[in-house]
Amino acid sequence: MNAVSPASLPGLPGAVADAEAVRLQLRTWPEVERYLDHCKGVILPLGSTEQHGPTGAIGTDALTAEAVALEVGRRSGVLVAPTQAYGMAEHHLGFPGTISLQPATLLAVLHDVVLSLARHGFERVFVINGHGGNIATARAAFAQAYGTAATRNLPVAPELRCRLANWFMAGPVMRTAQELYGDREGHHATPSEIALTLHLEPSLEAHQRPLADPPKPGPIHGPEDFRRRHPDGRMGSDPFLARAEHGARFLDLAASALVDDLSQFLSDPAG
Ligand code: NI
Repeated sequence: MNAVSPASLPGLPGAVADAEAVRLQLRTWPEVERYLDHCKGVILPLGSTEQHGPTGAIGTDALTAEAVALEVGRRSGVLVAPTQAYGMAEHHLGFPGTISLQPATLLAVLHDVVLSLARHGFERVFVINGHGGNIATARAAFAQAYGTAATRNLPVAPELRCRLANWFMAGPVMRTAQELYGDREGHHATPSEIALTLHLEPSLEAHQRPLADPPKPGPIHGPEDFRRRHPDGRMGSDPFLARAEHGARFLDLAASALVDDLSQFLSDPAG
Protein backbone atom coordinates (compact mmCIF):
# COMPACT_ATOMS: atom_id res chain seq x y z
CA MET A 1 0.00 0.00 0.00
CA ASN A 2 1.00 3.64 0.15
CA ALA A 3 4.49 4.34 1.41
CA VAL A 4 3.55 7.96 2.20
CA SER A 5 0.70 8.52 4.63
CA PRO A 6 -1.95 10.51 2.74
CA ALA A 7 -2.65 12.37 5.97
CA SER A 8 0.69 14.10 5.50
CA LEU A 9 -0.14 15.29 1.99
CA PRO A 10 -1.06 18.98 1.70
CA GLY A 11 -4.66 19.96 1.11
CA LEU A 12 -6.15 16.70 2.39
CA PRO A 13 -8.16 16.32 5.61
CA GLY A 14 -6.45 12.98 6.35
CA ALA A 15 -7.22 9.28 6.03
CA VAL A 16 -10.33 7.79 7.63
CA ALA A 17 -10.72 4.21 8.85
CA ASP A 18 -13.71 3.39 6.68
CA ALA A 19 -14.92 4.75 3.33
CA GLU A 20 -18.44 5.03 4.77
CA ALA A 21 -17.17 8.10 6.67
CA VAL A 22 -16.63 10.03 3.43
CA ARG A 23 -19.82 9.04 1.59
CA LEU A 24 -21.84 12.23 1.12
CA GLN A 25 -25.04 10.17 1.04
CA LEU A 26 -24.48 9.07 4.64
CA ARG A 27 -23.66 12.52 6.03
CA THR A 28 -26.07 15.14 7.40
CA TRP A 29 -26.19 18.71 6.17
CA PRO A 30 -24.65 20.12 9.39
CA GLU A 31 -21.77 17.67 8.92
CA VAL A 32 -21.28 18.90 5.36
CA GLU A 33 -21.39 22.50 6.55
CA ARG A 34 -18.70 21.78 9.16
CA TYR A 35 -16.62 19.87 6.57
CA LEU A 36 -16.64 22.98 4.37
CA ASP A 37 -14.99 24.91 7.20
CA HIS A 38 -11.77 22.96 6.64
CA CYS A 39 -12.00 21.43 3.14
CA LYS A 40 -13.48 22.78 -0.10
CA GLY A 41 -12.92 19.62 -2.13
CA VAL A 42 -15.31 16.87 -3.20
CA ILE A 43 -14.91 13.74 -5.31
CA LEU A 44 -17.51 12.86 -7.95
CA PRO A 45 -17.37 9.31 -9.39
CA LEU A 46 -18.47 9.23 -13.04
CA GLY A 47 -19.19 5.97 -14.84
CA SER A 48 -21.27 4.51 -17.62
CA THR A 49 -23.88 1.78 -17.95
CA GLU A 50 -22.91 -0.03 -21.13
CA GLN A 51 -22.03 -3.39 -22.61
CA HIS A 52 -18.54 -4.65 -21.78
CA GLY A 53 -18.21 -7.56 -24.18
CA PRO A 54 -19.84 -10.98 -23.81
CA THR A 55 -18.34 -11.67 -20.37
CA GLY A 56 -18.05 -8.23 -18.72
CA ALA A 57 -20.61 -6.54 -16.45
CA ILE A 58 -22.81 -3.75 -17.87
CA GLY A 59 -21.93 -1.66 -14.82
CA THR A 60 -18.14 -2.00 -15.18
CA ASP A 61 -17.36 1.70 -15.65
CA ALA A 62 -19.58 2.84 -12.77
CA LEU A 63 -18.47 0.05 -10.39
CA THR A 64 -14.80 0.77 -11.03
CA ALA A 65 -15.09 4.58 -10.81
CA GLU A 66 -17.02 4.29 -7.54
CA ALA A 67 -14.54 1.83 -6.01
CA VAL A 68 -11.54 4.00 -6.91
CA ALA A 69 -13.36 7.11 -5.66
CA LEU A 70 -14.22 5.54 -2.30
CA GLU A 71 -10.64 4.31 -1.85
CA VAL A 72 -9.29 7.78 -2.70
CA GLY A 73 -11.83 9.21 -0.24
CA ARG A 74 -10.78 6.75 2.48
CA ARG A 75 -7.10 7.58 2.04
CA SER A 76 -7.63 11.36 1.83
CA GLY A 77 -10.70 12.13 3.96
CA VAL A 78 -12.28 14.02 1.05
CA LEU A 79 -16.06 13.61 0.66
CA VAL A 80 -17.35 11.38 -2.16
CA ALA A 81 -20.60 12.41 -3.88
CA PRO A 82 -23.02 9.76 -5.23
CA THR A 83 -21.84 8.05 -8.40
CA GLN A 84 -23.15 9.36 -11.71
CA ALA A 85 -23.67 5.87 -13.18
CA TYR A 86 -25.07 6.93 -16.57
CA GLY A 87 -22.59 8.28 -19.08
CA MET A 88 -22.25 9.06 -22.76
CA ALA A 89 -22.53 5.60 -24.32
CA GLU A 90 -24.42 6.30 -27.56
CA HIS A 91 -22.05 4.09 -29.57
CA HIS A 92 -22.83 1.08 -27.32
CA LEU A 93 -26.60 1.26 -27.82
CA GLY A 94 -26.51 -1.64 -30.30
CA PHE A 95 -26.16 -3.95 -27.28
CA PRO A 96 -29.00 -4.63 -24.80
CA GLY A 97 -28.57 -3.39 -21.26
CA THR A 98 -26.76 -0.24 -22.35
CA ILE A 99 -28.35 2.95 -20.98
CA SER A 100 -26.88 6.14 -22.46
CA LEU A 101 -27.15 9.85 -21.90
CA GLN A 102 -26.80 11.99 -25.01
CA PRO A 103 -23.78 14.32 -24.77
CA ALA A 104 -26.04 17.34 -24.16
CA THR A 105 -27.86 15.48 -21.36
CA LEU A 106 -24.66 14.44 -19.60
CA LEU A 107 -23.32 17.97 -20.00
CA ALA A 108 -26.46 19.35 -18.32
CA VAL A 109 -26.28 16.79 -15.49
CA LEU A 110 -22.62 17.48 -14.70
CA HIS A 111 -23.16 21.23 -15.00
CA ASP A 112 -26.03 21.12 -12.50
CA VAL A 113 -24.11 18.86 -10.08
CA VAL A 114 -21.12 21.23 -10.10
CA LEU A 115 -23.33 24.31 -9.67
CA SER A 116 -25.17 22.71 -6.74
CA LEU A 117 -21.88 21.93 -5.01
CA ALA A 118 -20.44 25.37 -5.80
CA ARG A 119 -23.47 27.14 -4.35
CA HIS A 120 -22.59 25.73 -0.92
CA GLY A 121 -18.93 26.58 -1.10
CA PHE A 122 -17.23 23.61 -2.75
CA GLU A 123 -14.40 25.08 -4.82
CA ARG A 124 -12.70 21.93 -6.14
CA VAL A 125 -14.63 19.13 -7.87
CA PHE A 126 -12.47 16.08 -8.58
CA VAL A 127 -14.25 13.84 -11.08
CA ILE A 128 -12.99 10.24 -11.03
CA ASN A 129 -14.04 8.87 -14.39
CA GLY A 130 -14.27 5.26 -15.57
CA HIS A 131 -15.29 5.77 -19.22
CA GLY A 132 -13.35 7.31 -22.11
CA GLY A 133 -16.59 8.29 -23.85
CA ASN A 134 -17.32 10.79 -21.05
CA ILE A 135 -14.13 12.81 -21.41
CA ALA A 136 -15.07 15.36 -24.09
CA THR A 137 -18.49 16.00 -22.58
CA ALA A 138 -17.16 16.35 -19.04
CA ARG A 139 -14.65 18.97 -20.17
CA ALA A 140 -17.41 20.87 -21.95
CA ALA A 141 -19.56 20.71 -18.81
CA PHE A 142 -16.74 22.18 -16.71
CA ALA A 143 -16.36 25.09 -19.14
CA GLN A 144 -20.08 25.78 -19.02
CA ALA A 145 -20.17 25.50 -15.20
CA TYR A 146 -17.42 28.11 -14.84
CA GLY A 147 -19.40 30.49 -17.03
CA THR A 148 -22.64 29.95 -15.14
CA ALA A 149 -20.96 30.34 -11.73
CA ALA A 150 -19.62 33.70 -12.86
CA THR A 151 -22.90 34.97 -14.36
CA ARG A 152 -24.79 33.91 -11.21
CA ASN A 153 -22.18 35.78 -9.13
CA LEU A 154 -21.57 32.77 -6.88
CA PRO A 155 -19.01 33.73 -4.21
CA VAL A 156 -16.82 30.73 -5.15
CA ALA A 157 -16.83 31.53 -8.87
CA PRO A 158 -13.23 32.86 -9.01
CA GLU A 159 -11.96 29.77 -7.14
CA LEU A 160 -14.15 27.11 -8.80
CA ARG A 161 -12.11 24.38 -10.49
CA CYS A 162 -13.08 20.97 -11.83
CA ARG A 163 -10.56 18.26 -12.66
CA LEU A 164 -11.09 15.09 -14.65
CA ALA A 165 -9.12 12.11 -13.31
CA ASN A 166 -9.44 9.06 -15.54
CA TRP A 167 -8.36 6.22 -13.25
CA PHE A 168 -7.63 3.84 -16.15
CA MET A 169 -5.21 6.39 -17.66
CA ALA A 170 -3.13 6.90 -14.50
CA GLY A 171 0.52 6.20 -15.38
CA PRO A 172 1.09 3.27 -12.99
CA VAL A 173 -2.21 1.66 -14.05
CA MET A 174 -1.37 1.87 -17.76
CA ARG A 175 2.18 0.57 -17.20
CA THR A 176 0.94 -2.40 -15.17
CA ALA A 177 -1.79 -3.20 -17.72
CA GLN A 178 0.89 -3.17 -20.43
CA GLU A 179 3.13 -5.51 -18.38
CA LEU A 180 0.31 -7.93 -17.63
CA TYR A 181 -1.59 -7.95 -20.92
CA GLY A 182 0.49 -6.24 -23.64
CA ASP A 183 -1.60 -5.35 -26.68
CA ARG A 184 -4.38 -7.68 -25.46
CA GLU A 185 -5.39 -4.86 -23.11
CA GLY A 186 -7.24 -3.43 -26.13
CA HIS A 187 -9.57 -0.43 -25.96
CA HIS A 188 -12.89 -1.60 -24.56
CA ALA A 189 -13.87 -4.35 -22.11
CA THR A 190 -10.19 -4.32 -21.22
CA PRO A 191 -8.73 -6.97 -18.88
CA SER A 192 -7.61 -4.23 -16.47
CA GLU A 193 -11.12 -2.88 -15.88
CA ILE A 194 -12.62 -6.39 -15.85
CA ALA A 195 -9.97 -7.44 -13.29
CA LEU A 196 -11.10 -4.64 -11.00
CA THR A 197 -14.73 -5.78 -11.26
CA LEU A 198 -13.67 -9.36 -10.42
CA HIS A 199 -11.95 -8.03 -7.31
CA LEU A 200 -15.06 -6.06 -6.33
CA GLU A 201 -17.72 -8.62 -7.28
CA PRO A 202 -16.46 -12.24 -7.11
CA SER A 203 -19.74 -13.52 -8.62
CA LEU A 204 -18.57 -12.11 -11.98
CA GLU A 205 -15.93 -14.88 -12.20
CA ALA A 206 -18.76 -17.16 -13.38
CA HIS A 207 -18.84 -15.26 -16.72
CA GLN A 208 -15.13 -15.62 -17.47
CA ARG A 209 -14.30 -17.87 -20.44
CA PRO A 210 -11.79 -17.89 -23.31
CA LEU A 211 -12.84 -15.82 -26.32
CA ALA A 212 -11.74 -15.89 -29.96
CA ASP A 213 -9.35 -13.16 -31.10
CA PRO A 214 -11.36 -9.95 -31.61
CA PRO A 215 -11.39 -7.92 -34.84
CA LYS A 216 -8.88 -5.07 -35.04
CA PRO A 217 -10.16 -1.80 -33.52
CA GLY A 218 -11.02 0.99 -35.94
CA PRO A 219 -13.16 4.13 -36.21
CA ILE A 220 -16.77 3.81 -35.05
CA HIS A 221 -19.63 5.69 -36.68
CA GLY A 222 -22.59 4.83 -34.48
CA PRO A 223 -24.23 1.95 -32.62
CA GLU A 224 -25.05 -0.22 -35.65
CA ASP A 225 -21.56 0.30 -37.08
CA PHE A 226 -20.05 -0.63 -33.71
CA ARG A 227 -21.95 -3.90 -33.53
CA ARG A 228 -21.15 -4.74 -37.16
CA ARG A 229 -17.40 -4.16 -36.64
CA HIS A 230 -17.25 -5.61 -33.13
CA PRO A 231 -20.00 -8.26 -32.96
CA ASP A 232 -19.32 -9.33 -29.36
CA GLY A 233 -18.71 -5.77 -28.06
CA ARG A 234 -14.99 -5.97 -27.30
CA MET A 235 -12.51 -3.64 -28.97
CA GLY A 236 -9.23 -5.49 -29.33
CA SER A 237 -9.23 -6.82 -25.76
CA ASP A 238 -8.91 -10.21 -24.10
CA PRO A 239 -10.83 -9.96 -20.82
CA PHE A 240 -10.17 -13.65 -20.09
CA LEU A 241 -6.68 -12.54 -18.96
CA ALA A 242 -8.23 -10.61 -16.05
CA ARG A 243 -7.65 -11.87 -12.50
CA ALA A 244 -9.20 -10.61 -9.27
CA GLU A 245 -5.73 -10.19 -7.74
CA HIS A 246 -4.76 -7.93 -10.65
CA GLY A 247 -7.87 -5.91 -9.83
CA ALA A 248 -6.70 -5.39 -6.25
CA ARG A 249 -3.40 -4.08 -7.62
CA PHE A 250 -5.12 -1.74 -10.06
CA LEU A 251 -7.28 -0.36 -7.25
CA ASP A 252 -4.21 0.34 -5.11
CA LEU A 253 -2.23 1.86 -8.01
CA ALA A 254 -5.11 4.04 -9.18
CA ALA A 255 -5.90 5.24 -5.64
CA SER A 256 -2.23 6.09 -4.93
CA ALA A 257 -1.84 8.07 -8.13
CA LEU A 258 -5.14 9.89 -7.73
CA VAL A 259 -4.57 10.77 -4.05
CA ASP A 260 -1.36 12.54 -5.12
CA ASP A 261 -3.23 14.29 -7.92
CA LEU A 262 -6.03 15.28 -5.52
CA SER A 263 -3.55 16.68 -2.99
CA GLN A 264 -2.00 18.87 -5.67
CA PHE A 265 -5.44 19.92 -6.89
CA LEU A 266 -6.65 20.93 -3.41
CA SER A 267 -3.46 22.61 -2.22
CA ASP A 268 -2.58 24.68 -5.29
CA PRO A 269 -4.36 28.04 -4.99
CA ALA A 270 -4.21 28.41 -8.76
CA GLY A 271 -5.74 24.95 -9.25
NI1 NI B 1 -15.25 0.40 -19.55
